[in-house]
Amino acid sequence: MPDIYKQAAESLFSFQNRVGGLKALCLAQNSSPSATYALSTAVMDNYENLKSIKGITCDNSMNYFHQIVLLHEFQTNGFPNKRLRLSKETRNTISFLKANVDLEPLKAMKPAAIFKPVANRYFRIFQKTNITEFAAALKELNITYTQTQFKNVVVLSELPPSAKLTQFGEFQSIGSCLPVLCFQSIVNKGTLLDLCAAPGSKSLQASESFTVTANELDKRRFNILKKRCEPQNITCINADAFDTIDRIRSNQFDLILLDPTCSSSGTYNQDKALALKLNVGKEKDLEKLVTFQKTILLKALTKGAERGIKYVSYSTCSINDEENEQVVEFVLEQNKKWKLVNVLEEWEVRGLRHKECVRCEEPGNGFFVAVFQRK
Ligand SMILES: C[S@@+](CC[C@H](N)C(=O)[O-])C[C@H]1O[C@@H](n2cnc3c(N)ncnc32)[C@H](O)[C@@H]1O
Repeated sequence: MPDIYKQAAESLFSFQNRVGGLKALCLAQNSSPSATYALSTAVMDNYENLKSIKGITCDNSMNYFHQIVLLHEFQTNGFPNKRLRLSKETRNTISFLKANVDLEPLKAMKPAAIFKPVANRYFRIFQKTNITEFAAALKELNITYTQTQFKNVVVLSELPPSAKLTQFGEFQSIGSCLPVLCFQSIVNKGTLLDLCAAPGSKSLQASESFTVTANELDKRRFNILKKRCEPQNITCINADAFDTIDRIRSNQFDLILLDPTCSSSGTYNQDKALALKLNVGKEKDLEKLVTFQKTILLKALTKGAERGIKYVSYSTCSINDEENEQVVEFVLEQNKKWKLVNVLEEWEVRGLRHKECVRCEEPGNGFFVAVFQRK
């Protein structure tokens, strides 16, 4: 096992500095990325308690996050055994905590209070997964699961950092699963272009039904995308989505999935402590984001209509009307060749003013999806 304490600390530190989403940062770690993600999310759930412990270095440095991660480990399992392959930094941080921090309050905290998850931990099971084997693996790890209304999406209970579930599926919030679930409810095969694809969750999900091309502008995020998607036969392109749209050939794709950068306001509750500190989604950014969202969606619809695209999905993990329904209204006004499709009728939470669209309003998992059909 690599030093996942250091890896989780690095991921949380980079997340705080807005280098990327927590999941993408953990998945970019070289070894045991899933264990790093499980540990990092458990630390996030516990963050309010951990940061209240006196004596830690409250400066938001990498060292601070290292202390937070190790306090969490101390709380749940005791300090890691120094004989494990721990990095020098982890060993030094353990010594610092032992010497300088009063650990008594942490010991006194009840695990039940500490482990109350803020958001549901969703897991999308691969179509190829043998459910009996998956259930047996969960039982062995003492993990319980609850079925959602979709047969391949479950909610998992608290995960031990050692949990290895990658052969069975992917951690993916139910909101994030919705765009592909919408497409799958309309068509069962075809070619799909994912325009803003990193870290690749929706491309991977879509590849279970469609032939997928995944496009991403940011080089760092593209590398993560490529690492995850190429083994699944997904073609990955490192380019600006605007240029990629220009290069679409006639009838090259049936579907476009557009999940552009947004304020992420729907995920606030999940990453509340850090999101508040980061002031994510402040108004100045929102205007810029909305302009980008409107421009890229309009371009996808306009070029898409010329090049034979049949359906376009537009999604965000934002709960703001400005980034969702207002964007949809803007493009429908500008381009009369498209109409909204009434998707996933069994999903109860619908769009504001447009019942054809779906929303997820669960704390920490806020999401919006609109699907356009060429008339
Ligand atoms: C919300 S994330 C996509 C998440 C992804 N669909 C998934 O499910 O894993 C938005 C992505 O769009 C990328 N992006 C932003 N502007 C872009 C552009 N002009 N062209 C291509 N990608 C862009 C960002 O770098 C980011 O990785």
